[in-house]
Amino acid sequence: CCVLCLCCVLIVLCLCCVLIVFCLSHCRYALGMEDGRIKDDDITASSQWYETTGPQYARSEGDGAWCPEGQLEPSDSQYLQVDLGRLTFLTIVGTQGRYARSSGNEFARAYRLNYSRDGLLWKSWRNRLGNPVMEGNKNAYASVINDLHPPIVTRHVRLIPVTKLSTTVCMRVELYGCPWDDGLISYAAPEGQLMMPPGYPIASLNDSTYDGTRERRRLSGGLGQLTDGVIGLDDFLLTRQYHVWPGYDYLGWRNDSLGTQGFVEMEFVFDRQRNFTSMKVHSNNMFSRGVKIFSSVSCQFKPHLIANWEAEPVAFKTVLDDRNPSARYVTVPLNRRAAKSLRCRFYFADVWMMFSEISFQSVKKIKSRTRLPMSLVLISANPSASDSPDVSNTPVLIGCLVTIILLLVIIIFLILWCQYDCKVLEKVKRHNPTLKSVEAKGRLFRCFYFEREFGMMSANSCKERRSYWCLYLSVFVIMLVLNMNYFCPAACGGGYAEPDVTQCTPHQCFHSNAPHYAETDIVRLQGVTGSNMYAVPALTVDSLTRKDISAAEFPRQQLIFREKLGEGQFGEVHLCEAEGLPEFLGEGSPLPDRDGHSVLVAVKQLRADATSQARNDFLKEIKIMSRLNDPNIIRLLCVCVSSDPLCMVTEYMENGDLNMFLSQREIESTLTYANNIPSVSLSDLLHMSVQISSGMKYLASLNFVHRDLATRNCLLDRRLTIKIADFGMSRNLYSSDYYRIQGRAVLPIRWMAWESILLGKFTTASDVWAFGVTLWEIFTLCKEQPYSLLSDEQVIENTGEFFRNQGRQIFLYGPPLCPPSLFELMMRCWSRDIPDRPTFEGLYQALRPHVSQ
Ligand code: ADE
Repeated sequence: CCVLCLCCVLIVLCLCCVLIVFCLSHCRYALGMEDGRIKDDDITASSQWYETTGPQYARSEGDGAWCPEGQLEPSDSQYLQVDLGRLTFLTIVGTQGRYARSSGNEFARAYRLNYSRDGLLWKSWRNRLGNPVMEGNKNAYASVINDLHPPIVTRHVRLIPVTKLSTTVCMRVELYGCPWDDGLISYAAPEGQLMMPPGYPIASLNDSTYDGTRERRRLSGGLGQLTDGVIGLDDFLLTRQYHVWPGYDYLGWRNDSLGTQGFVEMEFVFDRQRNFTSMKVHSNNMFSRGVKIFSSVSCQFKPHLIANWEAEPVAFKTVLDDRNPSARYVTVPLNRRAAKSLRCRFYFADVWMMFSEISFQSVKKIKSRTRLPMSLVLISANPSASDSPDVSNTPVLIGCLVTIILLLVIIIFLILWCQYDCKVLEKVKRHNPTLKSVEAKGRLFRCFYFEREFGMMSANSCKERRSYWCLYLSVFVIMLVLNMNYFCPAACGGGYAEPDVTQCTPHQCFHSNAPHYAETDIVRLQGVTGSNMYAVPALTVDSLTRKDISAAEFPRQQLIFREKLGEGQFGEVHLCEAEGLPEFLGEGSPLPDRDGHSVLVAVKQLRADATSQARNDFLKEIKIMSRLNDPNIIRLLCVCVSSDPLCMVTEYMENGDLNMFLSQREIESTLTYANNIPSVSLSDLLHMSVQISSGMKYLASLNFVHRDLATRNCLLDRRLTIKIADFGMSRNLYSSDYYRIQGRAVLPIRWMAWESILLGKFTTASDVWAFGVTLWEIFTLCKEQPYSLLSDEQVIENTGEFFRNQGRQIFLYGPPLCPPSLFELMMRCWSRDIPDRPTFEGLYQALRPHVSQ
């Protein structure tokens, strides 16, 4: 029992140590609502219902909570405000309802947080996915702990209860974190950029939690990912956060994108003048991907905000490392220079430079009580950014551990000692029932004394006493662990390392399963007629042989060339006369308009010298097309694949593609009529939209994802019937619609849903997004490219905004020709959340009534 007990004690001891180290190094102290370190005057509120539910009762006295006046309405913005007295790194918020010895029944189901570093400028907290609302309590008694991801650097906090229905709300609150001794109140830097390496996912290296302003591609006046305590991994594409995009943990810049200067300039502003000893920059060094730590840095100092930069900078050259690709802290000595703000230039050592954290160490001049000269006292580093536990916490940590270990050793010693005494006593009793031995009496007394103190005198035998000791020890250890919850809530409930599933919608959770580019089975689909190469998930075509292709082989000598319709790097499209095609296809087969014995057809032909990859992709397209049969999908008539060059024969669409068709037309009016200008009516446009939705409805019913729906891929015959074409191909003509990732993969980014760009996820729902853009093209008569004012890079940045959904995303405008109800439909196609997007069936049903029969 004793050995077992000892083992348990040691295990629990280790657990305690781990928990203590975890708490202290992770900045999770109760900040003093409950224990009164935060004074009543520092807790205020927008209103209170009764005297006994005033803001100071948010620390759980009186009726046990703060309750805002009256019923809380969904539009209300009532708040409880806490002044923490100093800049604090806030990591956790705990809330409880009004319990009032079980007579209270009010609680906040959800709440928001606003914060201010100076008490003047208030900012709204949002989680890493852009959601400002946190889950609150489910009943009046249980506390709910919310980890702040990202944490906040602030002095003032407002908790704003949120409700969907009119209700009474009361809250008790505890805040957790630690002092922000870094003193940094803002940094300014160029906006982070996108990295689009061939064959890798796009890495978005922006500062997505930055709480200052973004103007002219510069961040200023805020803090963000560089001070959130999250240290980036060696591979910058991997992240420590859940449901975020590759490159999330880093802020990164490309050398040539910032002009020819070859450096990144950053400015840091502090709460007061400090004497800086060093700056620690956590930097990526994945040199195989063109990323390295900075080669040198030069920092200038400003003693006051309104002063000039001091002439003499501090310069520091790093030792570059081409062997170890690990991300690392680079410590820059700052020579104890005094400043309120710093301006540092970090010089590139390679194409890219990426930082995940920056912290500053400074010393404070204090007057000694003795006559000793001024001494320098170290101010602890940024608690979040240091890679070792916080310097200021170390003595507390060691003290706690030593005390616990000593206590446990004493207890174990006592147990063993009493056990030994007990045995001796029983032995003596057996031999000498009158207990004459003085030593035995002494022993008995000592053991008796301790046991009386611990109240286990009723136990008679040694065995019973032993079990009592075990029980007492267990209770002690359990109490110790439970008490830790007081200053370390998440250790026993919050779960720091757990993904915050309470904060993600089912849809976002669903995304966690979504592979991104790196994980997706990628094939490169090269257009026969275009130079495009798509990065798209592999189609489920295993090995392609002639037997997989259900279209019949047509004698190629019966194809008589008429004219060239299009051309690209991998082949050409010809208009041909197909002699004897009606007979070849047989009676009953739906045939295009015939010209006597022959029929006009479009023949896509793969270049004879095409790569085997292009050849395989061509065959895959044939295989897909041969299985499609719908009036709004281009029809494959036959093929010539028994010899080179490979050809596919499709119906000929006299009016070419929809983009060309519409861009050459104006909306029908008396003017166009009078001047014989080619025109289309609104009803034509609606009819086109219905036909495309019908074709897509068919593809969706087969679970077929098109991946490149756009007007350029819709063809028109002479009766203006629309047929969707190009299952993986587009013409050179539209190359500006595609985003070329360093000359390789080509993506139609302006038509792509955010999840396709960021996660490489192509589904029918992403086709719906593209359909919305196609509708927009139709109602602008293809006179403008979508997001024409944005560069390709800006379009991708805008995709990040669609993902974050903080209202900063730029939507396509409502075309003047477009009825408002139709624009609403388009906007639904661009819903951030997939379940909010309409289906093609729904789109078809919504559009069809608009068409006059
Ligand atoms: N360009 C590409 N395919 C075509 C087709 N089937 N008809 C007309 N032009 C085309």
